[in-house]
Amino acid sequence: MVRKFALLCLALVLVCAVAAPVFAQSGDSLYKRLGGYDAIAAVTDDFIGRLIADPQTSKFFLGFSHDSKKRIRQHVVDFLCQATGGPCVYTGRDMKTAHAGSKISEADWDASIKDLTATLDKFKVPAKEKGEVLNALGPLKNDIVTVH
Ligand code: HEM
Repeated sequence: MVRKFALLCLALVLVCAVAAPVFAQSGDSLYKRLGGYDAIAAVTDDFIGRLIADPQTSKFFLGFSHDSKKRIRQHVVDFLCQATGGPCVYTGRDMKTAHAGSKISEADWDASIKDLTATLDKFKVPAKEKGEVLNALGPLKNDIVTVH
């Protein structure tokens, strides 16, 4: 009887040891699955670098001082951190206000999504997480694109 009970306990411990990490992983925020703050900051830097180098989108970033670019970059990091369930608090302007008057077109939007996809591929973000990032940002198009 004691032996049976001991075996049962052992089996329970083994099942829990195998299942716990699986459950923990599936419940993790997108923020955590992307690799946390440093990964999101690196993704942001690469993405903004591409937008600035892309002939389709570079014009939007002309004329900003280094300091202004740093502020925008930090706001994008905070925005993505918050949007993916991280611990950051985004204190910048809402997307409509921040982009209003910039005359961002559908073609500019498409180019920026291509650039973001290239960044996510460069960092080998898995297909599931890549889809979640793109799905989270997709609805922002309505607030950002003003030229149709
Ligand atoms: C992928 C979706 C996008 C997200 C999540 C995003 C996010 C942001 C954030 C958080 C800011 C900072 C706002 C602030 O400082 O208050 C910002 C500013 C800016 N974004 Fe975007 N953006 C997106 C798409 C675009 C696109 C497609 C363009 C142009 C091609 C663009 C151009 C700019 C520019 C020029 C600024 C600086 C505005 C200013 O300070 O006057 N963004 N964006």
